[in-house]
Amino acid sequence: MEHPCDNRPVDLVAALAVARSPQPPGPDTPAGAAVRAWPGTPVPVPKAGPAELDLHALLRLSLAASDTSGRLRPAPSAGALHPVDTELTVGTGCSLPPGRYGYDPLRHRVHHLDRHPPDTPPGVTAALTVTAQRTASHYGHRAWPLLLLDTGHAAAALFLAARALAAGEPRVRMDGLTERPLATVHVPPPRGRGPGRAAPDDGRAAEQAQHPHTSAELLARRSAAPPLRGAPSPDALRAVLTAAARAGTGDLHWSVAVGPPRPGLVEPAPGGTSLRQYATGDARPTLAAWAAGQAWIAHAGAVLLAHGCPADADTPHIRRAHLRAGFAVHLAHITALRLGLTARPVGSWQQADLGAALGAAPGRDWIVHALALGTRPADEENPT
Ligand SMILES: Cc1cc2nc3c(=O)[nH]c(=O)nc-3n(C[C@H](O)[C@H](O)[C@H](O)COP(=O)(O)O)c2cc1C
Repeated sequence: MEHPCDNRPVDLVAALAVARSPQPPGPDTPAGAAVRAWPGTPVPVPKAGPAELDLHALLRLSLAASDTSGRLRPAPSAGALHPVDTELTVGTGCSLPPGRYGYDPLRHRVHHLDRHPPDTPPGVTAALTVTAQRTASHYGHRAWPLLLLDTGHAAAALFLAARALAAGEPRVRMDGLTERPLATVHVPPPRGRGPGRAAPDDGRAAEQAQHPHTSAELLARRSAAPPLRGAPSPDALRAVLTAAARAGTGDLHWSVAVGPPRPGLVEPAPGGTSLRQYATGDARPTLAAWAAGQAWIAHAGAVLLAHGCPADADTPHIRRAHLRAGFAVHLAHITALRLGLTARPVGSWQQADLGAALGAAPGRDWIVHALALGTRPADEENPT
């Protein structure tokens, strides 16, 4: 298998098998530069004129770092290592002249790379790739699933930003067929609708969750610091689960692990208007052990789980499942925050064969990604 740090095509089947093994990663190695070394002079992203797609706002709401450390961004990242690189192919109707550009999220600048291809559609296409070394510098052989999940989160951040700006309907490609790019998000120029409206603040979780997210909501997203205590209401859990399941269809199954008074695993009931419990017993301590021994997960209010991706999945399947899990967990995260919950993605899973733990055939139903949920900020915890 190739070393996870280089950028040659990776044997993903082998990489996932070793990432799922109990073998711990070695000591940290250098992460390298935080931004790809794009050629040429960096230039600011101009603000948009009337009826233009505002690339300045689109990138600010999705990928740009908001402090000099680069940690604070609208999209989360495993270990805050931010391995996703973005190349923009700009067509007509945008606030940058047509062409191909590399994006520097730390300086919020673009580097002109080349002319745009003749068949470039109006709007912008963001092509997402990864610099594996950044994530591998800390996670070693556990890096590849995290790189794919991170890319899914970044694609979702672009998708939500396009929606918040009332741009044309974004189209996301995450079919798993290519490594470079892993995903693309095409955003057409606006069609004259108003900006995203705020959600009603009347406690109806399902309706609140479906409203377009606003720019302020996207910029306010953070991962809550553990512990994430307090059990969310069944209504809120159903809204979060529905947001995830809608966005991450296809290869994945979605469940939520809940604690007392009726500990177990729940999933949407047929019709989607309620939850049904399909396994009893508190899964959270086992989840904590499987998630690199993160003990706080055993006490989380609830844990949303994306699972599937069997041991015999081929490379496109592995890519697709992880990209879609990252995308869907990001939408679920933003939905949870709107509902007043606290949330934190959890992406490092070893030996997390959920199907086998529930008595089914081994190797068929692995945890791919998760979102820990709670109702109380950590600083409201009583230390006793
Ligand atoms: C794919 C992925 C996996 C993550 N896994 C974990 C995890 O296992 N444990 C954890 O505490 N945080 C995890 N996080 C949260 C990151 O640590 C967090 O996003 C990062 O520190 C940046 O902070 P922010 O989300 O508040 O911007 C994960 C985030 C992503 C996107």
